[in-house]
Amino acid sequence: MSRLVPPYIERLVPYVPGKPVEELERELGIKNALKLASNENPMGPSPRALEAIAKHLPETHRYPDAAAFRLRERLAAHHDIAMDEIIVGNGSNEIIDNLCRTFADATNHAVIGVPSFVYYKLGLIAANVPYTEVPLRDHLAWDVTALLAAVRPETSILFVAHPNNPTGAHVAKKDLERLMKELPERVVLVMDEAYVEFADAPDFVSALTMRNLRERLLVLRTFSKAYGLAAIRVGYGIGPRAVIDYLNRVRAPFNCNALAQVAAIAALSDHEHVSNYVKLNRTERARVTNALTKLGLKVGPSQANFVLVNFAKPGKEVYDSMLRLGVIIRPMPAPIDTWQRITIGLPEENDRLIAAVQQTLGA
Ligand SMILES: Cc1ncc(COP(=O)(O)O)c(C=O)c1O
Repeated sequence: MSRLVPPYIERLVPYVPGKPVEELERELGIKNALKLASNENPMGPSPRALEAIAKHLPETHRYPDAAAFRLRERLAAHHDIAMDEIIVGNGSNEIIDNLCRTFADATNHAVIGVPSFVYYKLGLIAANVPYTEVPLRDHLAWDVTALLAAVRPETSILFVAHPNNPTGAHVAKKDLERLMKELPERVVLVMDEAYVEFADAPDFVSALTMRNLRERLLVLRTFSKAYGLAAIRVGYGIGPRAVIDYLNRVRAPFNCNALAQVAAIAALSDHEHVSNYVKLNRTERARVTNALTKLGLKVGPSQANFVLVNFAKPGKEVYDSMLRLGVIIRPMPAPIDTWQRITIGLPEENDRLIAAVQQTLGA
């Protein structure tokens, strides 16, 4: 039989999401499973977003605004930039996919980190773009020297998650400055700031503050994390007009649905909702880190709404033990397969997490 797909599609392995709560509850016959696996906002969505969605529901027979005019207008005001420097997407995942298809082909090359957000690799494989995975220092910290050294004459795209998923690491301001300046001009630098709201290190700055240092910079943001709208699927990218223009040519029409557009506009104005969560995350991230460290575990320093924890035991064993206790965490692939990524929850959820870890370690 003739081949069904090209060889690079054959290499693709589907993205494995965090296990859904209902699935575990069905499997264990329990009612109160706790999911700390997908870095979602444990406080829920903004009530203003819910109101906006409800108000828009009678209009769902109409196509959305394909240009997402009102959302881009609102985002432009929020970031003090021009509307045509913004692209919105069906989650930032869609924009990652489109970046791979737009700025590279099989003759180009991309640079990504490992461990880092796995979707960069999937997007690159699906677009048949060769790539180099650059190890983080001790699996945890970004290594700008190594990233720059991996760049080849044909490199056209470099992805940095900032803070990183799953390590929570950021690039210190002076290293970020160096990356911006030393990365060859032709490369599109993608700074994925999905977790930016949670970062509070003194040497953390958003790449948006360095737009003057290089032309080809695309900063990604999402409403899935701090804004609590993961289900509605909306993310955006900020970059120079030329980059946004090409992304607009590649994206599907109506890629950002109407409910997502109105929800994002409403969520953007709910500063209190985001700041309450950020405050809670800061306190609880420190508390969970301390508690797990006291239990003898190594916890990576995190600038995000999760922590990466080394159990020094086969990941599946730990994951399964936690599942039996009704707590869903996220096992990690090699080379960090003894580590688990754990989302910071509400205080009572974190108490339950710590107790389950204690039980797992005692087992
Ligand atoms: C670093 C990073 N970028 C992007 C995303 C995708 O977010 P979205 O829900 O906007 O597609 C995630 C989701 O986990 C992420 O961790």
